[in-house]
Amino acid sequence: MRKYVNHHSARVIGDRNWVIPFITSFIIFITLYFSAISGLFTSPHDGENLSFDIIPFAKSDDTGGYYVESDLKTSLDTNGSSKIGAPRFAYLISGTRGDSHRMMRTLSAVYHPRNQYILHLDLEAPPRERLELASLVRADLTFREVENVRVMSQSNLVTYKGPTMIACTLQAISILLKESSEWDWFINLSASDYPLMTQDDLLHAFSNLSRNINFIEHMQITGWKLNQRAKPIIIDPGLYLSKKSDLALTTQRRSLPTSFKLFTGSAWVMLTRSFLEYCIWGWDNLPRTILMYYTNFVSSPEGYFHTVICNNEEYRHTAISHDLHYIAWDRPPKQHPISLSMKDFDKMVKSNAPFARKFAKDDPVLDKIDKELLGRTSRFAPGGWCIGSPEGGADPCSVRGNDSVFKPGPVSERFQELLRTLLSEDFQRKQCT
Ligand SMILES: *[C@@H]1O[C@H](CO)[C@@H](O)[C@H](O)[C@H]1NC(C)=O
Ligand SMILES: *[C@@H]1O[C@H](CO)[C@@H](O)[C@H](O)[C@H]1NC(C)=O
Ligand SMILES: *[C@@H]1O[C@H](CO)[C@@H](O)[C@H](O)[C@H]1NC(C)=O
Ligand SMILES: *[C@@H]1O[C@H](CO)[C@@H](O)[C@H](O)[C@H]1NC(C)=O
Repeated sequence: MRKYVNHHSARVIGDRNWVIPFITSFIIFITLYFSAISGLFTSPHDGENLSFDIIPFAKSDDTGGYYVESDLKTSLDTNGSSKIGAPRFAYLISGTRGDSHRMMRTLSAVYHPRNQYILHLDLEAPPRERLELASLVRADLTFREVENVRVMSQSNLVTYKGPTMIACTLQAISILLKESSEWDWFINLSASDYPLMTQDDLLHAFSNLSRNINFIEHMQITGWKLNQRAKPIIIDPGLYLSKKSDLALTTQRRSLPTSFKLFTGSAWVMLTRSFLEYCIWGWDNLPRTILMYYTNFVSSPEGYFHTVICNNEEYRHTAISHDLHYIAWDRPPKQHPISLSMKDFDKMVKSNAPFARKFAKDDPVLDKIDKELLGRTSRFAPGGWCIGSPEGGADPCSVRGNDSVFKPGPVSERFQELLRTLLSEDFQRKQCT
């Protein structure tokens, strides 16, 4: 305002003929202006503050204070003392045609009343199977009472290695965010995954951990992957066709991005609520820009979250490069996981990882895991919340006790060993490099 007035008074001195009309119109302008302001806004602002408000850059030395994004930023406490106590997990378990029974088995093995579960059967599964899965969930008394298991009625066409897989994961996360305000970590499983420890083991081990640590195996894209992953342009027909078909490859190739760095890694992740709110809400455009970029990328589930987390200054320090899975790969080029069986049992246990994949349906090794690692004799893997009497083969989990009382076994100790290694400084030095 002051600037505006000075400018005009300079002109007034040079050309006296304008004095009277100018002053008249100026007074009219000021009168109209202030009557408009006081009529429209009933705020207590006085003239001084108003002139401040209409000069947006007056506060330029106060960086961040003025811009809207600074209010939206979550401040991360990587020391982790902000929230202690029993954590909660949110699981997505996905499957395809013929997977409903395996999904129920995996669900039972990772079930705990503290957690949230969402099941997704993709569009390849016939509607009959989805109904069957929903009725299996509905028929379970515990699920009905605790109300923490959901089946997605909208099923998506998911193309192997395509962006439709990411879209489906993001949809499930959105539902979990909307339906439950309590969980701390999101974990991604498929019907061919299985836990190697009980939820009590896991929940106990995560109790003292910062709620800002993301487990996401990652590395910068280099070597053959630059040519075979970053340069090709693909189209996922699952985005617009109603029948499943393979990814289409265009003849053109694109150059490497220069406004962000590309990262890749395992599609199996354990991500914090805070990071996922950042991805889903998108108040910062990075997660959205990168999502659009990955629409035409081969194997987007192996790169989307990795690239977002490593290109954000705040979150990159929270990424721990491990996927918490035991996975055995085929001989190089390590593109396909091999099916685990009895002969892999010792290696699985030694890995100290909480999950393993992949298993064939009802492979005998799953029974061995149930018996020796989970102690699962009835529906659920036992835990501190199961306080019923096991007499006469009854299910102790049919009587629910306090769900924040955990009974961790010896396996939990081994997992905490893995956690200590992962959280060591040596390991953290490799973050996003
Ligand atoms: C984290 O811990 C360090 C040293 O232990 C301390 O200097 C820092 O202020 C802490 N940060 C937060 C956000 O509490
Ligand atoms: C977590 O911290 C408490 C208090 O320091 C300790 O008693 C407990 O054993 C810790 N739990 C784990 C899993 O380290
Ligand atoms: C999540 O889980 C599914 C399991 O079917 C997997 O295929 C997918 O790649 C996973 N990862 C992401 C980031 O969506
Ligand atoms: C459940 O157990 C926790 C931890 O032992 C305790 O703090 C809490 O008060 C208990 N809740 C109930 C309802 O007994």
